[in-house]
Amino acid sequence: MELEPKENPKQSVSRRDFLKLSAIAGTGITLGAAGMGAIMGIVKPENGKVAALSDDRISLYGQHQAGIITPQQTYMYLASFHLTGNDRSSVIRLFRDWTKFCDLSTAGGTMKTGDNTLLPPNDTGETLDLPAARLTITFGFGPTFFREEGKDRFGIAAKAPRYLKDIPRMPRENLDPSLSGGDVCIQVCAEDQQVAFHAVRNLIRLSTGYATVNWLQEGFISATPGKTPRNLFGFKDGTANSEHDNSAGYDDVVWAGEGEPDWMKGGSYLAYRKIRMLLEVWDRTSLKDQEDTFGRYKESGAAYGRSGEFDAVDMSQQPGSAHVNLAKQTGQRIHRRAYSYTNGIDPRTGNVDAGLLFLSYQKNPETQFIPMLRMMQSKDKLNEYTSHVASALFACPRGLKEGQYIGQNILEG
Ligand code: HEM
Repeated sequence: MELEPKENPKQSVSRRDFLKLSAIAGTGITLGAAGMGAIMGIVKPENGKVAALSDDRISLYGQHQAGIITPQQTYMYLASFHLTGNDRSSVIRLFRDWTKFCDLSTAGGTMKTGDNTLLPPNDTGETLDLPAARLTITFGFGPTFFREEGKDRFGIAAKAPRYLKDIPRMPRENLDPSLSGGDVCIQVCAEDQQVAFHAVRNLIRLSTGYATVNWLQEGFISATPGKTPRNLFGFKDGTANSEHDNSAGYDDVVWAGEGEPDWMKGGSYLAYRKIRMLLEVWDRTSLKDQEDTFGRYKESGAAYGRSGEFDAVDMSQQPGSAHVNLAKQTGQRIHRRAYSYTNGIDPRTGNVDAGLLFLSYQKNPETQFIPMLRMMQSKDKLNEYTSHVASALFACPRGLKEGQYIGQNILEG
């Protein structure tokens, strides 16, 4: 049984190899299969960090969930689910199935096609010949997971994390409730869009009878490796993340801890805003106005008065209403992991419907994200070119240990 190609033992196992392996080993990789990690010889995360299994496999297991401080993959889907049942056992069943699927797909495997030609195949099949493509699947829980309309649906209200509340209403927003919130959120990222879509599609299939999809967003971001990606306004987006890019920085900014229930220690809060960017207006704006909007130079990404992208911001050079100036004035930091989106043409205006799926991770949304959002929504020059259309806050639990299922520490014990 050959799992690794001969020439390069580090090269990843294709999904087809994985299927062959399952047939040879008679393991029956189906939804009911367990311990896929053992079959794949998954490398355990070292030092509590998310371990890269090979060039293109990122472990599902570790102290923290993957997909939070993981360097951004090119494609992202964000799915929000509403749990339809009211009993905890059906939620447990769903999370067990989801976990098995995540274990399998992040390791580059697919479910067994199935021997009964009269039944639909277990797996939808579009990734059979594709590698894992740095697939990560990150779970978060919304306020309604713990309590909906005052009701403790699953008997877990006492385990709610400390800061999980809907993001309060802000000035200048016109939110679409059908694109906001949700009981459970799944962020799926991969270097290959088909791999990412396959994961989200099969997670949706597995939820049949247990959950319905509220909304599904897809995003992309692209950069030369090692360079900061640019958003659809053409500016480098994510530069300031470098200020906390070390384990002490992530502890300060991203990982929840003090005062949180045990399952949330090492987790993080995901703040989501869907922000439409008025590209036609922006594209008619002078370079100076564009640069004044951010307080940074467009080409280099350097802050006003500086020459290097990562040089410290000189606040004395910042225009009063510049985005960076306002963010810095709050004295807070967040970890941004945004993706661009495009969605055809707005039929009402004929303008392109495009923008930013703003995602940020932080340990305390009340002190970090919300004051920043409030400040920006009232004063930011960027508001001339943007409009917020959706919003959500989710609590993402700490990472999984092999053998555990997602949410187990909340749903049991
Ligand atoms: C369409 C909407 C947005 C666009 C196009 C945008 C774009 C940018 C750009 C180009 C930068 C400068 C480079 C960098 O450090 O990444 C930046 C910085 C930043 N943005 Fe945004 N942003 C948007 C929305 C938001 C929102 C909603 C928040 C939070 C409420 C936010 C928080 C920040 C923060 C904290 C920084 C870093 C400031 C610093 O410390 O230097 N942004 N953004």
